[in-house]
Amino acid sequence: MNSPIVRAASRRRFLQYLAGSPLFASHALSAYGAETLSKLPDPMIWAPAAGELIGKPKDAINVFDFEPVARKNVPPAHFGYMASGLDDEVTLRANREGFLKFQLLPRRLNDVSKVDTSVELFGTKYDSPIFVCPTGGNQFFHPDGELAVAKAARAGNHLQILSTSSNFSVEDVTNARGVPIWFQLYASPRWEVAQALIKRADAAGCPVLMVTVDRIAGRNQETLFRLMRTDTRECAACHDRSSFAARSVRRHNYDGIDLTAISGGGESSNLSWDSVKRMRDVTRMKIVLKGIVTPEDADLAVQNGIDGILVSNHGGRGEDNGRSTIDALPEILAAVKGRIPVIVDSGFRRGTDAVKALAMGAQAVGIGRPYLWGLGAFGQEGVERVLEIVRTETHAAMQQCGARSLQELNPAFVRRAS
Ligand SMILES: Cc1cc2nc3c(=O)[nH]c(=O)nc-3n(C[C@H](O)[C@H](O)[C@H](O)COP(=O)(O)O)c2cc1C
Repeated sequence: MNSPIVRAASRRRFLQYLAGSPLFASHALSAYGAETLSKLPDPMIWAPAAGELIGKPKDAINVFDFEPVARKNVPPAHFGYMASGLDDEVTLRANREGFLKFQLLPRRLNDVSKVDTSVELFGTKYDSPIFVCPTGGNQFFHPDGELAVAKAARAGNHLQILSTSSNFSVEDVTNARGVPIWFQLYASPRWEVAQALIKRADAAGCPVLMVTVDRIAGRNQETLFRLMRTDTRECAACHDRSSFAARSVRRHNYDGIDLTAISGGGESSNLSWDSVKRMRDVTRMKIVLKGIVTPEDADLAVQNGIDGILVSNHGGRGEDNGRSTIDALPEILAAVKGRIPVIVDSGFRRGTDAVKALAMGAQAVGIGRPYLWGLGAFGQEGVERVLEIVRTETHAAMQQCGARSLQELNPAFVRRAS
């Protein structure tokens, strides 16, 4: 009998053959086939037709069902921006495969007829531990962009974190969400720019400033660049890419801020622990660092008075270090020793993924690409359904484990596969 590895390899070859066949050569199938290599194909093998797309959000059985619809609707260059990792995309794949290294240890006979999935983060209660990660330029995927995302987050009472590079401003998105949101900061190389953005987020009522610390270098986003070549539209008609200032014209958090001195991609290469101290001096907001992936930096964050950590590798888009966040999480939690909240993102797609991280000790789990698939596929309704699916799966995974609340989840519910 074939080993699981041989069976997986032949299934993969079959899917590659289908994707390459002129009979099946739709964009949807090639994207689907490419994703299939890095996700678990087994529940899909009896799906009626790999190329068949869902027609409405309610038809989705899991979050992956939205991806090929978004691929069909969204221009190739925009889809590439979303899908891309960098270099060999080892980290992008590791983020999914990392979950296989951990197994849940469900407990029985614990009356899980009522499960409370709510979480409190810095004094605010959310109905679910699943939060909306900051992603730039949501109008790449739907004209309603971050406003649609905010309304969907509002429907399920999820925390939303808004990117510095959002199309809609922090004021407009806060309004659409209906309660304060967190603001993610790309500090840029210039303090004046960081300070102006911090002031704006503060004035908009954001309780938390999430400082992204892993966009400090240029990056070779190969999938993006290859898909850009297949895009027949004239990118320059919409995007003036001649300078950082020109590229930021539709990123309304920058309105009124002088960006002319910023060159290249505006990476925050000069960030240091002193930069964060400086931020602390000019804001009342809590400060959470996004992009911590080692226990050493986690400990330094605590020593430097940081209020929280988001363990993130930017969904495999900041650098290609090769390690999944679910792999790094236990060491980081051990270094932090409960002194500050630790949350996590990168590669989370399933309720069981979330419950593994929550059992290890993360307080909340973020998703990025899945809600962008929902947005590109069906706008606000698509994002709502993606969040609903992840919420429902998380609730079910908690019940299946015998945990009635997030407080009841603990490291005894998860172990490293041998
Ligand atoms: C299209 C896209 C844009 C992103 N933009 C930002 C951003 O502006 N700021 C940021 O800190 N992270 C950004 N991220 C990273 C996300 O916040 C998050 O870390 C990542 O998407 C989580 O991984 P996942 O996509 O596998 O769920 C972006 C991710 C994607 C996919």
